[in-house]
Amino acid sequence: MAGFVHVSSTQIPVAFMSATKRSFRRRASVIRCAAITPKKRYTIAVLPGDGVGNEVIPVAVDVLCLAGSLEGIDYSFKELPIGGVALDLVGVPLPEETLTRAKQSDAVLLGAVGWPKWDNNPKHLKPITALLQLRAALKVFANLRPITVLPQLVDSTYLRKDTAEGVDLLIIRELTGGIYNAHPRGFTTNEQGDEVGFCTESYSASEVDHIARVAFDIAKQRRGKLCSVDKATILEGSMLWRKRVTAMAASEYPEVEVSHLLIDTAAMDLVRHPRQFDTILTGVMFGDILSDLAAMIPGSVGLLPSAALGDSGPGIFEPVHGSAPKHYGKDTVNPMAAVLSAAMLLRYGLKEENAAKRIEEAVSDVLDRGFRTRDIHTCGTTLVGCNRMGEEILRSLDGSCKKL
Ligand code: IPM
Ligand code: MN
Repeated sequence: MAGFVHVSSTQIPVAFMSATKRSFRRRASVIRCAAITPKKRYTIAVLPGDGVGNEVIPVAVDVLCLAGSLEGIDYSFKELPIGGVALDLVGVPLPEETLTRAKQSDAVLLGAVGWPKWDNNPKHLKPITALLQLRAALKVFANLRPITVLPQLVDSTYLRKDTAEGVDLLIIRELTGGIYNAHPRGFTTNEQGDEVGFCTESYSASEVDHIARVAFDIAKQRRGKLCSVDKATILEGSMLWRKRVTAMAASEYPEVEVSHLLIDTAAMDLVRHPRQFDTILTGVMFGDILSDLAAMIPGSVGLLPSAALGDSGPGIFEPVHGSAPKHYGKDTVNPMAAVLSAAMLLRYGLKEENAAKRIEEAVSDVLDRGFRTRDIHTCGTTLVGCNRMGEEILRSLDGSCKKL
């Protein structure tokens, strides 16, 4: 049918595909550094999704392009709809074509999903359902969320400066099991005729072992400290979680210093003394809550990148923030979470450590040069919007090329 790309049961209008060229055009005026001849080529599925995803992802793509070109990396970007955008286009939040192409890619770069217009939809037609389906389909069970306080940003913390200074921790969150995903779940009516909504907090031994091994291996490469967070005083899933983590520590990772905290104490300690943490291991819901809480240590969720990884196949790289309907369309949001997610994509998804480092150094350089978006703006720094911040990151990358 003219005007549509036809793939299995969902059709994506061709207009959406051609938008790629517009939104991901390189900013030629900013990129001055001559790129070296590409030796490697990767396919990246780009899923901007809803709201500010459409502001931050084009910035992240520009940054990926330039950092890649400086390391002999080229990409084929496939822009695909997900979330509310997909509901508008084809009536489902995760079109089959999006899933198929995501599976075929080397990595998925995702913006955000969700928009108030869809809030009252049944669950299977909500934008965020697409995210849960995509995570499940790609089997990305390990969610890495680093939280660092760069010295330039110590003034934007919501905590006391001396509390936030030097924080460098990593939350490893189980992503495809637990209360978000386990069965039974649903709605029913009890004997009193009262409506009931219910779900199940369950973890199997193999699920715990799977994520715990990732966390132990990473903790070993960091400062060798792992804190496992649960609610083992109450929840059976947590009781098993603690038992398995304790056993794995003793039998396989004697060199890692392991501690266990209950979720309520962990939340308190994250704001009281965050520097005590190195690697935090936790389940899907506690990890969701702790990562937004921990965003207040550097001072903005607009700074937090994430990676969702499986045993094999493409990972999903996305900023921790959502679609932010209140901020969309104003060019005010911080693209750094998305840009740092692109760095994680290079590091964990493509094993391109040098290009990843270039991006992180460029972000640090932009902060040194005093540029700040509204969420991290403090006295004496230069307030810029999302686009300008993107341009400055490109300029810093460009500069890093000249230094070599
Ligand atoms: C996140 C988000 C998601 C989650 C939602 C949108 C499903 O809050 O990635 O932190 O809870 O995993
Ligand atoms: Mn969240």
